[in-house]
Amino acid sequence: MTLLYEGKAKRLWATENPNTLRMEFKNDATAFNGEKKASFENKGRLNNEISTLIYGFLETAGIPTHFVRQIDATNVEVKKVSILMVEVIIRNLSAGSYCKRTGIEEGRLFSQPVIEFSYKSDELGDPLINDDYIREMGLATPEDLAHLRKSALAINSILIDFFAKCGLRLVDFKLEFGRLVEDPSIIVLADEISPDGCRLWDIKTGEKMDKDRFRRDLGGVMEAYQEVLGRLKEVTA
Ligand code: TMP
Repeated sequence: MTLLYEGKAKRLWATENPNTLRMEFKNDATAFNGEKKASFENKGRLNNEISTLIYGFLETAGIPTHFVRQIDATNVEVKKVSILMVEVIIRNLSAGSYCKRTGIEEGRLFSQPVIEFSYKSDELGDPLINDDYIREMGLATPEDLAHLRKSALAINSILIDFFAKCGLRLVDFKLEFGRLVEDPSIIVLADEISPDGCRLWDIKTGEKMDKDRFRRDLGGVMEAYQEVLGRLKEVTA
């Protein structure tokens, strides 16, 4: 089958169905816009299983997504979308680039979720942008953006509770959305949701259970992902 796209952590392949693609999770990990690179045995499988459980849960909760079905350990079938070049980041507690930008310490609980947008461009390092940039760059209309905001908040509420049941605090995460190629009037949640693109802290111990273990050389990266999967499986069983 034809390889259509290769990103830092995934590949997209054509299928026999013109309206779907095969999304393959790779073992590669990158951080700091690709500056730091590594490969972890089993990462593709763990992220595929984690993302599949989360997408299934979100679909059940009424969130439209690109997800069709799991194909095998490292592949899922997804609806073909044209990805909006806006990444939506939702923060419930201060961490990462929020702390860097503001000088505020890590772990401050926000009174309301903080939403930010970045321009999906590896070349530019996914810079922070705002509603006016998005409108003028033609990345999304103000109506689309209002929809993204509303969806992101709904997904956040669902996932905060979902992860809390697993003993995990959802600190922040990144979402991507796309227009269905079959019907461009419909915008759905796309990409993956896994510890690569979320910050998850153990509620009891405060331990980091996500890609910050790799970013900060804390060790035990795949052990943490495995633990997240184990807890998600218990809750969804
Ligand atoms: P940040 O604090 O580095 O801005 O990241 C916020 C959240 O978004 C964090 O959970 C990691 C996720 N994220 C990605 O998935 N991809 C990215 O390229 C970046 C910058 C962040």
